[in-house]
Amino acid sequence: MSISNLLVTGGAGFIGTNFVRHVLRKRPNWRIVNLDALTYAGNLASFQDLARDPAARHRFVHGAIQDSALLDQLFTEEAFDAVVHFAAESHVDRSIFGPEAFVDTNIVGTFRLLEASLKHWQKSHKPMDFRFLHISTDEVYGSLGPAGHFTEQSPYDPSSPYSASKAASDHFVRAYFRTYGLPAIITNCSNNFGPYQFPEKLIPLMILNIMEEKVLPVYGDGKHVRDWLYVIDHCDGLVRVLEEGRPGETYNIGGGAERQNIDVVHLLCLLLDVRLERSGRKASRNLIQFVTDRPGHDRRYAIDATKIKGELGWSPAHKFEEALEATVDWYLANMDWVEMVRSGEYRKWIEINYGDR
Ligand code: NAD
Ligand code: TYD
Repeated sequence: MSISNLLVTGGAGFIGTNFVRHVLRKRPNWRIVNLDALTYAGNLASFQDLARDPAARHRFVHGAIQDSALLDQLFTEEAFDAVVHFAAESHVDRSIFGPEAFVDTNIVGTFRLLEASLKHWQKSHKPMDFRFLHISTDEVYGSLGPAGHFTEQSPYDPSSPYSASKAASDHFVRAYFRTYGLPAIITNCSNNFGPYQFPEKLIPLMILNIMEEKVLPVYGDGKHVRDWLYVIDHCDGLVRVLEEGRPGETYNIGGGAERQNIDVVHLLCLLLDVRLERSGRKASRNLIQFVTDRPGHDRRYAIDATKIKGELGWSPAHKFEEALEATVDWYLANMDWVEMVRSGEYRKWIEINYGDR
């Protein structure tokens, strides 16, 4: 499908900002309108430089996906031929402390965006000349035991308010395809890492705590497994799904890099010890503390990416260890970004989540 004018929601967040950059680099004829509410997780600092794009291929709009009037106005002004929907509340631990925001943004927000897209698509497009790409997570499938992988046929079985809200949004997207024919596609992806990730998630939190010689809080026994994917590989997969994926389909995207949390933390300690010249008693692994486990903590995620590999020829181009090293170096070189995003709100969160552990 040929695309030229894209609405990206949540393009000031971690994956969104990487996606916007990736598209502007790889697709010179595409223009992006980036709609973001700039919550604690969305940062102007993550895309200020894009405002200087000489061809003005990036327009930022500050607003919420729940705002139907704003959505109508944008669809009328811009006549989008695709929507790429990242905007969400995305952190499991926050969803445990305050689930309502997850219902409001992830469920109600997705519903409003679907309504606006449907109205626009019915009015102004030929039947298939539009795409609604919904970015979701493997967490909707719940937890795996020691063996097996999530396929597109795995039953939904979410454990946290976050994954329950993403599951609900997936159901709405699928229903809009089946009921109204809206050409929607869903992707369910494993854990991403890379530049611009907000330092509440495992990898950037550990990198910064190591640098600052703070405790490294590992939940439970540290043997929970995540299937890590470098964010650029995810963005590459999303462009393929947008251009060549089939409406009504789901594509699982995963890195094929299953690691226990404790192994990821050990590796980060090693990478930073080399760079910060630490060893012996000063070695960073001495900062590790096993803390009270997250309630409802899923034991293992692992994606079977056979479908997207076979149908769209996608596979991750980066090896986990090399991409992790590049990520460490990105944070070391971008501490000004880190300082900009670590607001008072961030410090309050660290106190709530880790204060009494
Ligand atoms: P993020 O929390 O870093 O970014 C979310 C962005 O959405 C922020 O810029 C925020 O300001 C914006 N936003 C929040 N509420 C909004 C609203 N009501 N209206 C408009 N904008 C709003 O999240 P992320 O890690 O970049 O994840 C992006 C998407 O990818 C999410 O839908 C998430 O469920 C999904 N996903 C993430 C991962 C991962 O590992 N990070 C893996 C699989 C899927
Ligand atoms: P996270 O980055 O929050 O992603 P998700 O919960 O969506 O998988 O957490 C990744 C894993 O790391 C998860 O098993 C929880 C664990 N974890 C810790 O052990 N300590 C921490 O401080 C954080 C934030 C996560």
